[in-house]
Amino acid sequence: MALDQLSHDPAGPVLLLGGYGTVGAELARAAAPFAPLLLAGRSPERAAELCRETGAEARRWDLADPEPFAAGVRAVVALVNDPADRALDAALRGAVPHVDVTRWTARLQRAVARVSLAPAGGPVLLSSGWMGGVVPLLAAALAERLGGLETLDTAIRYDLADRAGADSVEFMDRLGLAFEATEGGRTAPVVPLTGARTLVVGGERTKVARIDTPEQFTLPLTLGATGVATRIGFSSTGATNALLGLGRLGFFRWASGERWQPTRRRLLYAPGQGGTARIRLDATGPRGRASWTVTDPLGQAHLTAVGALLGLRRVLGEDGAAAPSGLAFPEQHPLPGGVLTALAELGVVVEAGAVGAAGAVAA
Ligand SMILES: NC(=O)c1ccc[n+]([C@@H]2O[C@H](COP(=O)([O-])OP(=O)(O)OC[C@H]3O[C@@H](n4cnc5c(N)ncnc54)[C@H](OP(=O)(O)O)[C@@H]3O)[C@@H](O)[C@H]2O)c1
Repeated sequence: MALDQLSHDPAGPVLLLGGYGTVGAELARAAAPFAPLLLAGRSPERAAELCRETGAEARRWDLADPEPFAAGVRAVVALVNDPADRALDAALRGAVPHVDVTRWTARLQRAVARVSLAPAGGPVLLSSGWMGGVVPLLAAALAERLGGLETLDTAIRYDLADRAGADSVEFMDRLGLAFEATEGGRTAPVVPLTGARTLVVGGERTKVARIDTPEQFTLPLTLGATGVATRIGFSSTGATNALLGLGRLGFFRWASGERWQPTRRRLLYAPGQGGTARIRLDATGPRGRASWTVTDPLGQAHLTAVGALLGLRRVLGEDGAAAPSGLAFPEQHPLPGGVLTALAELGVVVEAGAVGAAGAVAA
């Protein structure tokens, strides 16, 4: 099979692969004022209106079709699952700066292996931590306030009214697979949908339970955290209870094969017209504890695009600091000027709540 050819052209467009999807279109609108864009996907004619709006061009690149793709680009952002690592490999071969927001933990680990085996390449920012890397970026900001990060508990309130694209269901469709996470300084297996707790997220009582997300893998490595747990729950407790009930019955384990895929995905994929993204982060560190709540009134696709945009600026060296060389995770590069300022400028609200024990520090 002929290879895809991406060559590094610092004066060329930024390639957004999947750039007219739900997250992609949000990123295209946010990035258009800063850079010419090339959007790619299977049916580029679907991007016509977005191209008029943003001045972008659109071309066909189907990652499931062996026909190779070639372009000279300034950077590439992966906004669609890249199951055979085609975009990653092409970016590495062409030394093109690369950002990816799509990988669940096992896929991220595969990317880490590929990048470390590649002879050279441009910066590769694996920004698939929750919301395109927003959660790990905030973890770094919390570590700064707390003199380090010991533990981080993240609770995601998933608004059932929110938008989500078809490509995003794969990330959720892994509830039958146990994963590893760090607790008390040790790696332990975790079964998805266990460890339920109810807490207030953005003023709303929310029942949440464990889910596999990449920051649970990266934060112990990058910030030395000894306990990192991410939980998710719906805006309807009834819907969360139904999901947890299916988990307790072992449904996602015994129905994990291909045959049950359509049923699983019908259960997990019922997008709405738009909602609010809310996340709570509870952190501890040497100086105490802090609890932050993140709200994006424009929803999770917008918040993910915000994470991707900050990642793109990062690999282009446009945020006032040098671009990382080689492999990077979002939390390794706290933004000059601060994450909270960068997020506020993009319409994301971070409220510092509380406060901890003796000598505690909040915001
Ligand atoms: N890290 C996070 O926290 C986070 C949060 C949200 C989403 N995400 C990830 O972001 C990705 C996009 O989600 P989304 O909601 O935007 O999905 P989406 O609306 O389905 O968008 C997918 C885009 O990719 C294109 N596409 C689909 N199959 C393709 C293929 N084989 N080759 C090339 N292009 C293809 C689609 O256009 P065509 O149909 O014309 O090909 C579309 O433009 C997902 O992988 C999701 O898991 C990550």
